[in-house]
Amino acid sequence: MKKKVKQFRYVRIYQQLEKLIEPVQNPQSSMATITALLHNKFQHFFWTGFYDLKKDKLLVNCYQGPLACLSLQPVKGVCWEAVNKQKTIIVPNVHEFPGHIACDSRSNSEIVVPVRKNDKIVAVLDIDSRDFDAFDEIDAENLQKITKLIYSK
Ligand code: SME
Repeated sequence: MKKKVKQFRYVRIYQQLEKLIEPVQNPQSSMATITALLHNKFQHFFWTGFYDLKKDKLLVNCYQGPLACLSLQPVKGVCWEAVNKQKTIIVPNVHEFPGHIACDSRSNSEIVVPVRKNDKIVAVLDIDSRDFDAFDEIDAENLQKITKLIYSK
């Protein structure tokens, strides 16, 4: 996907999400709406969803795509890496990522973005693609901006 096309699509998605999320302000509804919109606007998103951080576990929340692992045990995989390093992780080839958790063997690349509530990570947004190298800084910046809508008030 061309970088300009992708950036433009993210701008439109953000505008739409702002309008939908702001008047309701319910994190669960926001996450469901973000998941649905992203998954349906980007054809190369194969699995799109959230994992909640609960004590020492990451538990699946709303998602779109094939069946996923319900619980990600610490401390391996891309989602835990995002929690532990407290930053967005982009993996161009998941088969080369030590400890990657393959909920579906068709996934080839992945991005994980931490979701913060009052500066504390409470969840992660995880997106998988069947394409290799599907995610870049444009995805990271825009998805970070989108996840900030969840606990903005
Ligand atoms: N691949 C993730 C697990 C979640 S699935 O991709 C939906 C990981 O390594 O943490």
